[in-house]
Amino acid sequence: MPLTGTGEIVTAAGTGRGVGAFNVIQLEHAQAIVAGAEAAGSPVVLQISENAVRYHGGLAPVGRAVLAVAAAAAVPTAVHLDHATSAELVREAVELGFSSVMFDASVLDYADNVRATAEVVAHCHAAGVWVEAELGEVGGKDGVHAPGARTDPAEAAAFVTATGVDALAVAVGTSHAMLTRDAALDFELISALREAVPVPLVLHGSSGVADDHLATAVRHGMTKINIATHLNQVFTTAVREVLAADERLVDTRRYLGAGRSAMAEEVTRLLGVLNTAPRGLSVSSL
Ligand code: G3H
Ligand code: ZN
Repeated sequence: MPLTGTGEIVTAAGTGRGVGAFNVIQLEHAQAIVAGAEAAGSPVVLQISENAVRYHGGLAPVGRAVLAVAAAAAVPTAVHLDHATSAELVREAVELGFSSVMFDASVLDYADNVRATAEVVAHCHAAGVWVEAELGEVGGKDGVHAPGARTDPAEAAAFVTATGVDALAVAVGTSHAMLTRDAALDFELISALREAVPVPLVLHGSSGVADDHLATAVRHGMTKINIATHLNQVFTTAVREVLAADERLVDTRRYLGAGRSAMAEEVTRLLGVLNTAPRGLSVSSL
């Protein structure tokens, strides 16, 4: 199945259905996410963050590998650049054939965020690339638990109009990189944002959200659900178990393969929670 646009997948989901957007660091992550999505029969978004690009020392090698995994998937699969703060990295992703980017200028003040994001949108839209931006910083990436940030609905609506973004990441109680799934979401705020903002809403830091709250968030109007840390937890736990059971084990396929299988199963389960089976648009019609 050819690579699918993130915009097509998110639009097909509509309101009340979630789209799983899962982060890739190693190739095994991409394979696990696709295998899990195929088992669920659901579209999926593979995303590579600027931090992961830094780890690999560049976007092209990991980006091309992930694009190839996505293009071979049996379900609609998109490849997205996540949390890019560099407009140059965005341009590289566009050239490589990514279907979407998230430009994250959320640490800037409102006017500077609007200016920087609008420039990125102009460049991406000229190339047919879908753009997500963030307003109201979802913290936590530096190990600081910061669940207090909130996005103002009126400001969010004005931001979308001023920048032309296709989707908006909003702060509604999550925080990145949580190892426990007990974040308290502001469902009233999600409803108010859904009402005010004319583009799909994106939930970041979703690892910290329990299954039933993820489903409730989707019902209240969140669409693209970003999950990274939780899947790494599942992957690493499986790797630890295999390594602990045999200290003579050195074949990396044996333990990375166990991590990949465990992660694939969890992706399938999460996609069930997010209720991502396409409605009105079948997997085969995308
Ligand atoms: O952009 C990626 C996500 O927001 C993932 O956050 O690692 O807390 O699930 P998480
Ligand atoms: Zn995020």
